[in-house]
Amino acid sequence: MDQITIIRPDDWHLHLRDGAMLQAVLPDTARQFARAIVMPNLKPPVTTVAQAAAYRERILAALPPALDFTPLMTLYLTDNTTTDEIERAADSEFVHAVKYYPAGATTNSDNGVTDLGHVQAVLEAMQKHDLPLLLHGEVTAAEIDVFDREAVFIERHLQRLTHDFPALRMVLEHVTTADAVQFVEAAEAHVAATITAHHLLLNRNAMFAGGLRPHHYCLPLIKREQHRQALAAAAVGGNPKFFLGTDSAPHTRTAKESDCGCAGIYSARAAIELYAEVFADNNALQRLEGFASCHGPDFYRLPRNTSTIHLRRECWQMPPALEAAGEQIVPLRAGATMQWRLD
Ligand code: DOR
Ligand code: ZN
Repeated sequence: MDQITIIRPDDWHLHLRDGAMLQAVLPDTARQFARAIVMPNLKPPVTTVAQAAAYRERILAALPPALDFTPLMTLYLTDNTTTDEIERAADSEFVHAVKYYPAGATTNSDNGVTDLGHVQAVLEAMQKHDLPLLLHGEVTAAEIDVFDREAVFIERHLQRLTHDFPALRMVLEHVTTADAVQFVEAAEAHVAATITAHHLLLNRNAMFAGGLRPHHYCLPLIKREQHRQALAAAAVGGNPKFFLGTDSAPHTRTAKESDCGCAGIYSARAAIELYAEVFADNNALQRLEGFASCHGPDFYRLPRNTSTIHLRRECWQMPPALEAAGEQIVPLRAGATMQWRLD
């Protein structure tokens, strides 16, 4: 198969930032995806429905008029989130989920939840109002090896969460391990997972290939090859619990190439082309549409898109850097060959 037409995809996990960076990155996503679940980890974070409404307006204002794109907003869960706010979110037309970051786990997560015990009433309210919980599934305890933080989160917290809130829809975001795949496969139908392009394409050697590679540093960290293979099998396998979420997370080159570089990989420039490569490499191109365009809307109880996109096998070079907000972003695959092209 050297070309394929699929229902227009959506990105179920995306960082769009704000201001000049938003302006710079939004066209990349909107060119490919009809909708995206927009992460709320701004500075300060998007913790209220009013803030989500204002952020949504800024995104729509930044959208080039020729592009058709709908941002799906999320709230950032804190120790102080109220059940009233959850009710307002559930009543709103545009807030589709609430995002849990363990405090200190990743970029702009300082206001995240310090202890799941603090948000039990809020999780009850989300379960009652059927508002999905999106999980950054890592523990932050300093004594836990950074490569083990997802597996330990599942063991210490996720098993309990799914037991205590048996009807709460949950997405384990950006899964990185075979452990996460197994957990989600065995869980109830309303427990799902997103998978990034970078976790499907790379293993942890990519962070150290010939030297330190800051542009391959993201959280949760990319893991061993055996885990990459488990993720690829889950993505291409057709199970509706797994769907596309790029976690594309732009940082400037200077913020990445630093003595304490930021976590995040910018894949939005050609995300659907990168996923197409994974599916083609696994002889599963016919299942790209389910993963990219059907499983996500079905989970979020939104209609599937009605338009289509066309992808064909064609080599092209990803630029070594992209101009953004007067600075540079180094995209995934910078300066290297891409194998698929979106028409
Ligand atoms: O690598 C990451 N970057 N992981 C996250 O969880 C956050 C994201 C960001 O916002 O930069
Ligand atoms: Zn993210």
